[in-house]
Amino acid sequence: MGPPTDQFNRSLHDLRISVTDRCNFRCPYCMPAEVFGPGHAFLRDPQLMTLPELTRIVRAFRSLGVQKVRLTGGEPLLRADVPALIRILKQEIGVPDVALTTNGWLLEKLAPDLRAAGLDRLNVSVDSLDDATAGRLNGLGFKVGRVLRGIDAAAAQGLPVKINCVVQRGINEGEIPDVCAYFRARGHPVRFIEFMDVGNSNHWSSDRVVPAREILARISAHWPLEPIGPTYRGEVATRYRYRDGAGEIGLIGSVTEPFCRDCHRARLSADGRLYTCLFTSLGWDVLGAVRAPGVTEAALAQFLRRIWEGRLDRYSDERAEILAAGETHSKVEMSYIGG
Ligand code: GTP
Ligand code: 5AD
Ligand code: SF4
Ligand code: SF4
Repeated sequence: MGPPTDQFNRSLHDLRISVTDRCNFRCPYCMPAEVFGPGHAFLRDPQLMTLPELTRIVRAFRSLGVQKVRLTGGEPLLRADVPALIRILKQEIGVPDVALTTNGWLLEKLAPDLRAAGLDRLNVSVDSLDDATAGRLNGLGFKVGRVLRGIDAAAAQGLPVKINCVVQRGINEGEIPDVCAYFRARGHPVRFIEFMDVGNSNHWSSDRVVPAREILARISAHWPLEPIGPTYRGEVATRYRYRDGAGEIGLIGSVTEPFCRDCHRARLSADGRLYTCLFTSLGWDVLGAVRAPGVTEAALAQFLRRIWEGRLDRYSDERAEILAAGETHSKVEMSYIGG
């Protein structure tokens, strides 16, 4: 049997694993403090996937052709066994590309461990270089300097770092050139991300979206750019290089320029449910299947194959019609599914 393809002939290439639904930030666009406050019920440890369970699940995905595993959260570095997990993914399972998406708060301390464990690369969120704005955007008033030191520490370990910057109208749109200038000088590509309507609690509205082409125009006014091709088919960022040779930027235009046609990502939530789209409400209970007695790896792979083969998701392609029709559906929260 060859690798599975879904109903639109999309293969299964990436697996994004949320290792925890907790986070040490409260970004209003993801985990607003008023919703994720003291009263919020986070998952308890027994609900999370253990390392042996993750090992079985990833092995099954590998047998279906998965090439890349990205660890996310919440904040993945809050889980102390993340370096051990990376070691398993690289050394025991042999995943070609193991990446991690983090807010960078714990990176200065953990960069050497991540490198030693075999991590291939990192994406770090930096929405603002200004302490007041950064503090508002992380919801807790934390200064950005510590995140920047974490990025330097990762780079010093030889880890390739990309920066994720979610742009919101009237909040950080004016900072785009500063963010470019800072990271150009340090050789890290920045990907500017359109604010998305993920989850149900982030007060999304289309007025707050700065379209990717406007971001492009703002950057081009300072530094001329030219398009470059994707690093791999279905890459979410559209890439451009600075004509002066000082590196590259990317645009993730999920709202105005959807990329569902090539979407080959499966997502595993922190409690082991498989979601075939960032915007679905229903997840398949993979961890439940793993915990059932006597389930073989082949049976698990077959279960995953069937799910992928039935997949019909293309939310971003359909978003405009769905919103115009006034339809609402409950979507899974970003911190639980990992972006
Ligand atoms: P690489 O290209 O491998 O570096 O990673 P990535 O950009 O896929 O991952 P990252 O976790 O850094 O995500 C960057 C942004 O893209 C986040 O805002 C994600 O929510 C968004 N994103 C990633 N995959 C998808 C997707 O399949 N659909 C949508 N709509 N957004 C996505
Ligand atoms: N829209 C776009 N990107 C978001 N992220 C979190 N919430 C949103 C949103 N509403 C980004 C984070 C991180 C990545 C995993 O997802 O900034 O970089
Ligand atoms: Fe935490 Fe990342 Fe969500 Fe911010 S965007 S609250 S850092 S998981
Ligand atoms: Fe994939 Fe869903 Fe994002 Fe479209 S909206 S690219 S199907 S995750």
